[in-house]
Amino acid sequence: MNTPKALLNHLTPAQFLAEYWEKKPLLIKQAIPNFKGLLTPDELAGLACEADVQARIVTFKKGKWSAKHGPFDEDDFAKLPEKTTPENNWTLLVQSVNHFLPEAAALLQQFDFIPHARLDDLMVSYAPNGGGVGPHFDSYDVFLLQGQGKRLWRISEQTDLTLVEGAPLRILKQFDTAQEWLLEAGDMLYLPPHLAHWGIAVSDGAQDCMTYSIGFRAPKNQELATEFLGFLQDKLNQDALQIAGIYQDPDLTLQTHAAEISKEMISKVSANLEKLQWQKMLNDGALVGEFLGTYLSEPKSHVVFEKNKKISLAQFAEKIQLQGLALDFKSQMLFVNATFYLNGESFTCANASANLLKTLADKRECMPNNLQDDRLLMQLYAWYLAGFIHLKSA
Ligand code: SIN
Ligand code: CO
Repeated sequence: MNTPKALLNHLTPAQFLAEYWEKKPLLIKQAIPNFKGLLTPDELAGLACEADVQARIVTFKKGKWSAKHGPFDEDDFAKLPEKTTPENNWTLLVQSVNHFLPEAAALLQQFDFIPHARLDDLMVSYAPNGGGVGPHFDSYDVFLLQGQGKRLWRISEQTDLTLVEGAPLRILKQFDTAQEWLLEAGDMLYLPPHLAHWGIAVSDGAQDCMTYSIGFRAPKNQELATEFLGFLQDKLNQDALQIAGIYQDPDLTLQTHAAEISKEMISKVSANLEKLQWQKMLNDGALVGEFLGTYLSEPKSHVVFEKNKKISLAQFAEKIQLQGLALDFKSQMLFVNATFYLNGESFTCANASANLLKTLADKRECMPNNLQDDRLLMQLYAWYLAGFIHLKSA
């Protein structure tokens, strides 16, 4: 945290966090010198044709925006205009490229001065001259790293964030440019949430534009509240929160209206619900930590893991010492104290073994040496069979 990084305009990560993160934009020339990108336009289009990849083609034609969702096939690309202008253009956007490309996963590791719990994904876009997704704002922090080609970025200081009604994507009704920069390969722009921006691909007869968006999720408070209530519901169903017994009314007296829910019934139920001790639960760091670990490590609904080929536990125990372990590119692993969350599953570790799992979570790989903890071995084996982790080297 104390070493200045070219990636952050020669600031230390601590300085970047204090001065820019969630506060103001930062242009970083040559954040990654010699960065040309991680995949070709054809490879990106290939990914967009895969069933488990989330991709969109956004087109702008005669003043109207449209968006089509993947998976795509060759015909979808053949239909796109070859000659583009600012009035007639398109762009391809592919989400979670880090789930498929080792180089993309490695690129994200460079941003690990931001907690993994905040990381969303690496989105890669391709656009011919004039292409882009129009003026808009995002609800999350993003580092926009330029790959091949160039992109003109405009940012605005406007507070009016009214969107065009009925558009298939979020486009700002009006946009006042405050600053603009032409980004070339290796340049990067950090934008805090809700800052209006507009990127326009510029290809000067050379290479078309590819932009790498390293996005950090910022869950809505409402989403967290709803999910937390769902988490509590699961806990209640498992009886973990212990409100035993059934509704009882031995003191029932005759009611004038049989259909009326009486004050007595309401207060009895209130008193029973109070036994849940809501305030205590909310102040219980362990419970909220368990919720966050489970929820934030949960894979998105479209993510599928490929199971590893079955080997015996004894073979597994031997191989991990020789080859090491690595998280699957799609895996999300977080921890709170010595409880580890991998893709929504939790495992509480004996303290002596926690360092191994901490390394696996932080670095996405680890080298188990002389593993003595049988419970941990069994858990690693189960995660291996599920395809959440793999043997590192063959
Ligand atoms: C893009 O890469 O075209 C869009 C990135 C963004 O504006 O968030
Ligand atoms: Co954006």
